[in-house]
Amino acid sequence: MRHLLSPLDLTVEEIEKLLDLASDIEKNPDKYKDTCRGKKIATLFYEPSTRTRLSFETAMLNLGGNVIGFADANSSSASKGESVADTIRLVSCYADICAMRHPKEGAPLVASLHSGIPVINAGDGGHQHPTQTLTDMMTIRSLKGRLNNLTIGLCGDLKFGRTVHSLINSLVRYTGIRFVLISPPELRLPDYIKEEVLLANNTPFSEVASLDEAIRELDILYMTRVQKERFFNEEDYIRLKDCYVLDKEKMAMAKDDMLVLHPLPRVNEISVEVDDDPRAVYFKQVQYGVYVRMALILTLLNITV
Ligand code: NCD
Repeated sequence: MRHLLSPLDLTVEEIEKLLDLASDIEKNPDKYKDTCRGKKIATLFYEPSTRTRLSFETAMLNLGGNVIGFADANSSSASKGESVADTIRLVSCYADICAMRHPKEGAPLVASLHSGIPVINAGDGGHQHPTQTLTDMMTIRSLKGRLNNLTIGLCGDLKFGRTVHSLINSLVRYTGIRFVLISPPELRLPDYIKEEVLLANNTPFSEVASLDEAIRELDILYMTRVQKERFFNEEDYIRLKDCYVLDKEKMAMAKDDMLVLHPLPRVNEISVEVDDDPRAVYFKQVQYGVYVRMALILTLLNITV
């Protein structure tokens, strides 16, 4: 039995295979519509979510399966003090696979140690978010045609942004990747990721505070929300929340084929006037998220079509 807790749980070959499967699902959805008949996914969400939970549920429904779960820890027995270990033991009796989001780093890992079914990490605190990374990779591969030889700007909250952490972990395995880390000093990428991931893989990167300076050279601009829920005091959040706003003026400085990605939800960091720009692909990204989650469910359940 396999789990997906970190993007590194999949080898580069397995990721390529999964993305190929996701592309086939995109082209031939009918071929897959009954492949999970009789199967259930449990979505265990201890933290707010719109896209991730709904896309897991849509993915399973598109495969002909069913969905159970909760969208709020307060409506589950967690509010009575039940541990993640106990919850997963009983969910293993109800469902065939589960996706878990939790505010505590490592909670899906703990769940996997007590689980009788595959556990997918749907975001654990400020740590990892591997299925968003698969989504981001499918978006880049589909629209750019490659996952190598790219200059990628990561902009915003690089300290708490788990989607950024997972994306870096995954893309350092490709050749010709260069990162431009764009953040205010307070929200810089944690040192452990710089040391254990970027430096350890000899991946070139630079750290800058100005988006204007960086935008001209980018092939991909990955915008992120300042993660309000991870701040220890509100004053810091208020001071930093609007540190970057991507608008038409900034887009005019970018390459004609630069893509703008964002895991969403967006707050103020991308002005709505950018939405009509053909380079803004964050809503397409949402659709790719359904295909990769369909491919992932089939892969972890060992269902071949
Ligand atoms: C992200 C998350 O939950 O980490 N959202 C998502 O899953 N698409 C990004 C965010 O909340 O800012």
